[in-house]
Amino acid sequence: MAYNLRRHLNFSTAYPFDWWITPTRGLIALLEAFDVERLYDTRLLARDWQDTSVRSIDYGVWLHHEFPREWSQPGQPVAENFRDLTERPRRRTEHLVHRFRAMDRPGERILFVREVPSEDRGRDGTADAAALADALRARFAQAEFVLLVVNGRLSGTAPGVIGVEIPEADGGDWRGDVEAWGNCLARLGIRLAPGLHPTAASRDLDAQEAANRCDDENGAAPALQCAAGEREAMSEPRRRTAAEKLAYIDSLRADWIRELEPWSTGPDAIFVNARLPPPHLLERCRFVSHRYELVDRHLPKGGRIAEVGSMHGTFAKWLLESARPRELHIVDRGFKVFDHAHFQPAIEAGQVVLREGDSSTILKSYPPEFFDWIYIDADHSYEGVRRDIAAAVGCVKSGGFLVFNDYCCFSHRELLPYGVMRAVNEFAIDHNWRFEFFAWQEQGHFDVALRAVPGSMPA
Ligand SMILES: C[S@@+](CC[C@H](N)C(=O)[O-])C[C@H]1O[C@@H](n2cnc3c(N)ncnc32)[C@H](O)[C@@H]1O
Repeated sequence: MAYNLRRHLNFSTAYPFDWWITPTRGLIALLEAFDVERLYDTRLLARDWQDTSVRSIDYGVWLHHEFPREWSQPGQPVAENFRDLTERPRRRTEHLVHRFRAMDRPGERILFVREVPSEDRGRDGTADAAALADALRARFAQAEFVLLVVNGRLSGTAPGVIGVEIPEADGGDWRGDVEAWGNCLARLGIRLAPGLHPTAASRDLDAQEAANRCDDENGAAPALQCAAGEREAMSEPRRRTAAEKLAYIDSLRADWIRELEPWSTGPDAIFVNARLPPPHLLERCRFVSHRYELVDRHLPKGGRIAEVGSMHGTFAKWLLESARPRELHIVDRGFKVFDHAHFQPAIEAGQVVLREGDSSTILKSYPPEFFDWIYIDADHSYEGVRRDIAAAVGCVKSGGFLVFNDYCCFSHRELLPYGVMRAVNEFAIDHNWRFEFFAWQEQGHFDVALRAVPGSMPA
């Protein structure tokens, strides 16, 4: 839901409920007291039966995405010691609650959107919606608001409440049915008034989608996210100029630094420096202008190669054209957005093979010495890259290349830490793989190509 609101309103700022799952009673109790201490009271927190989320027993609220998860463990459970880790989410919630309360100002017009959780959907939701609107009214005495209740099965009306039904996405996509959301919000005339909210922002959500990540997968609780808006038929929002966008970024910086400060050091630090490879692993490395040149002029032609993580197939097109591989195996966990039409003839000729599923699992299915080189550009988290490296080493030829896209430590477009540089450097240092090529990229998302130092032990 939050994803679709941000997308529709071209807006991103934070309020406390985003990413939580809140049964109506607990939500109302929270709104009444907003007792953050009690919400994070460790005696009143429990992991759910699948261990993937933490629930406040008191409020019945799932604090989804609030605690680190063990991404390398089966089922990716919430960290066992989550009770020792309440300080950070509690502080963030306090900060967000403060902002939430501050919205109650004369002249402020707020859209609250409540997507009713499945456990509340079995019955008529009119009374719940009315009670929630009352709780909001008590909390927001000065501002005006509308409460949009999504999938709440409302048989009657309640003051200030609008009910809508939006179908779930096929296959349970966490983003929901993007088109249905867009149509519904547009039909209701919901837009953010330009300049109305001081922190309204333009944001490249497609980039986020493009990287095919949700915060759930990355395990990071989003620091500043959420939804607020306006119900108002208005002309198209004015496009922001580059200067306005930069001014907006400036206005966010103080918040950003304050949010990140507790995450910069200590065992949970999200920015961890990559180890520096020793000179003998770097001194032969050649600098090339771009990954296109790397493939075109430096990597072996005609071999059996793989692209791990392909999305639309944009770079795979270049691999096919420029590397002229005997076989190109394209691995991705989904091919919905992939340009099938382009590759169809090569697929039919057996030159291109599509493999759908988790990258490291699929790489492990290949025999040793199978690929001449492998291009890795799938999961960019540290753990994800480590898994792909371990699996790729098992099927690349001795003397073959492992090539890594996005060799950096942070994506400024997604505001997301990348673990590629750290994982690659550790691998190179620990297993004696040498940097052969470094390909420049205009936004700092470099490529590197590594090869085992001849005579070194297999990784
Ligand atoms: C950045 S895109 C790849 C872009 C492509 N290499 C290019 O340069 O045109 C990353 C892709 O990796 C895929 N991906 C991410 N994590 C994955 C995983 N664990 N297993 C398989 N595919 C994954 C995503 O679905 C997405 O399509």
